[in-house]
Amino acid sequence: MNTRLSDAGASSRVNLSATPNLPYAARAKGVFIYDEDGNDYLDGSAGPMAVSLGHGLPDILDVMREQANEICFAYRTQFNSRSKEALIEALIGLAPEGFDWAFLVNSGSEGTELALRSAIHYWAFKGKPAKVDVLGQSISYHGMTMGSLSMSGHASRRKDYGSLLHEFALGVTPYSFRATQKTDAEYLREVLSSWERVLAEKADTIAGIIVEPVVGAAGGALTPPDGYLSGLRALCDKYDVLLIADEVITGLGRTGTWFGCEHDGVTPDMIVTAKGMSSGYTPMGAVLYHNRVSETFRDVQPQGHTFSGNPLSSAVCLAVVRHMQRTDILENVRARGAQLKAGLERLSRAYPWMADVRGRGLLWGFELLADPVRHTPLATELDASRKFAGHCFNSKLIVYPAGVAPYNNAAIISPPLNITEKEVDILLERLEAGMRGFSKELGLQSP
Ligand SMILES: Cc1ncc(COP(=O)(O)O)c(C=O)c1O
Repeated sequence: MNTRLSDAGASSRVNLSATPNLPYAARAKGVFIYDEDGNDYLDGSAGPMAVSLGHGLPDILDVMREQANEICFAYRTQFNSRSKEALIEALIGLAPEGFDWAFLVNSGSEGTELALRSAIHYWAFKGKPAKVDVLGQSISYHGMTMGSLSMSGHASRRKDYGSLLHEFALGVTPYSFRATQKTDAEYLREVLSSWERVLAEKADTIAGIIVEPVVGAAGGALTPPDGYLSGLRALCDKYDVLLIADEVITGLGRTGTWFGCEHDGVTPDMIVTAKGMSSGYTPMGAVLYHNRVSETFRDVQPQGHTFSGNPLSSAVCLAVVRHMQRTDILENVRARGAQLKAGLERLSRAYPWMADVRGRGLLWGFELLADPVRHTPLATELDASRKFAGHCFNSKLIVYPAGVAPYNNAAIISPPLNITEKEVDILLERLEAGMRGFSKELGLQSP
């Protein structure tokens, strides 16, 4: 522990029984986190799909120190900040054509919440104040603030709040849980026509729809067939509805392009990004605006938060983005992504309960199935994804348990984007060790 902090909490009255029983993280370097007993955990999920460049990068720590020496905080309504402006410029430089402005926030939830408010603001500006709903997909996660949770198709996180949440998330299943055995083309036709039915009926009150290009925590890297996002874009244009890409996970290189929406060649109206743009070095998020939307903010700025775009966090995130550009991170994501995909597919052939390996770049997921032929999920009361993650943790690999029952008992593998070839091999070895433990405990087929 940092010796300057070591006497903190000596006479603490904190109720520690509410603290989960986890090892204490002592230090971290690259893709490894070390606990106080010296165990090295390979961060195979980049925490919650956030630590895009791994831990302890000297150039980012240098910028952090230098900026802290100059100025940590100045309030954005009282001073401009060079680092904030440079970060916004860097982000816009990576965004699709037509994007020209960004507002910085402190988390993904604040970002999606701001996108929701911005969509409402946009339609009020256009003289259509009845357009106030933003629809999410039935399997989705956009954050824990009340607006962002209202847009999220995540029953277990919504369940305590009942009617306090808006019924924004409609019953539109995003992509095939492959049990449906439909071809991509059939599935695409079906899911887009269900979106169209909703939009045709309610376009007068719908301000926007929000989608994750690859559904993360709620779906376990559920990856849509090609043409899904572009189909949604066409529907949004037809029914006068904004398209918001929630790229809190997929943004900044995670899927092999700067933004996940590029895969389908789609230009959304807003992009929300967070986790990867900070690599966990500081809390940060951003909403990026297409000029269609930013023009409505010419005379009135969005309401932000005390720490929005603070100089220290902005400088750190700028260092993250510049590091990615300097090291040609997208090239590594594509190469290591192909290696990881091949390794996961090999494991899936050997352990048939590990099914439906899907993803892009360095964002991969799979299902844990009782019967891979009939696509029967493991009993939900097992909390299989957590159990699976626990076995991997015992093998010193961090994976992210994901999925909304009963569709998904899923896991996500999403290591830092600068992982090396050798480290991917170690990841796959530790994953197989975790899989052996899981198979044994549940009596599942294993080689
Ligand atoms: C797609 C997506 N959107 C929004 C959020 C919320 O981000 P945060 O936890 O930073 O508030 C998350 C968090 O997991 C996410 O995965």
